[in-house]
Amino acid sequence: MSYNTLKTQLHDNGILEITLHRPDKLNALSAQLLAELGQVLGMAKTTAEVKALLISGEGKAFCAGADITQLLSLTGQQGFQFAQSGQTVFRMLEQLGKPSLAAINGYAFGGGCELALAASLRIASTHAVFGQPEVKLGIIPGYGGTQRLARLVGKGRALDLCLTGRSIPADVALAWGLVTEVVEPEQLLVQAKAILDNILKMAPLAISSIMQVIDAGYDLPLEEALHLEAVHFGLNCASQDKTEGIKAFLEKRPAEFKGE
Ligand code: COA
Repeated sequence: MSYNTLKTQLHDNGILEITLHRPDKLNALSAQLLAELGQVLGMAKTTAEVKALLISGEGKAFCAGADITQLLSLTGQQGFQFAQSGQTVFRMLEQLGKPSLAAINGYAFGGGCELALAASLRIASTHAVFGQPEVKLGIIPGYGGTQRLARLVGKGRALDLCLTGRSIPADVALAWGLVTEVVEPEQLLVQAKAILDNILKMAPLAISSIMQVIDAGYDLPLEEALHLEAVHFGLNCASQDKTEGIKAFLEKRPAEFKGE
């Protein structure tokens, strides 16, 4: 498939690299970009060769947010649908069942920050800047920012970013736990691929269980969440990969997982 606002490349090791590609508009999320992202995610979910996703932006921005030019004419009802359409695509990413990593190369503002929040992992270059500046436009984050940001960095820091509209640099994002690593710009994609490559050496069924249990369990009462964890633990114990993983450890050799 070819896209107008995205570049995609499937690497031999199963990493699908998705680059947001509207550099002259700082990769702002136009309706077309959002639709194309939805299409890629749909393809990634059903394509066995795609094992993990790496998302980054072309040029000096990761993504400067929703396309502001599309906001002016929105009525209340259209605004509701606008928010839901972005939320649906980002939820698809979050629930893809395959690990995703946002490699944040520059501005991650508004919907750009929200896109990164929906990925399984986030790392940043020293040039990255984060913010939820919607309040300056008379609106609020609408693609999950109020919810995922608070869950990731805590209510106080989420309120700080959303209420002030201020931006924070990569080192602050790291200290807040918004990203897990900050690297030099030329190392960003190298490190992103190394992280995903390492995850792909782990047992695929365990990876899928971990993502499902943390996603679904996070908002459940503890008793129910623990039950869900135990169910998935049992599922993994019944897998051939569990036998292989334990044997490999005891035999002091690398495990060869098959996802079975
Ligand atoms: N939507 C649409 N277009 C955007 C955009 C957005 N979210 N963010 C940037 N652009 C466009 C600019 O309008 C400009 O287009 P032009 O060259 O046709 O005038 C181009 O991208 C470059 O942006 P510019 O503002 O000139 O770059 P900068 O380096 O001076 O500033 C930012 C970068 C990120 C600080 C600034 O672009 C900005 O504040 N963007 C809006 C961020 C935002 O509010 N996001 C939330 C949206 S809900």
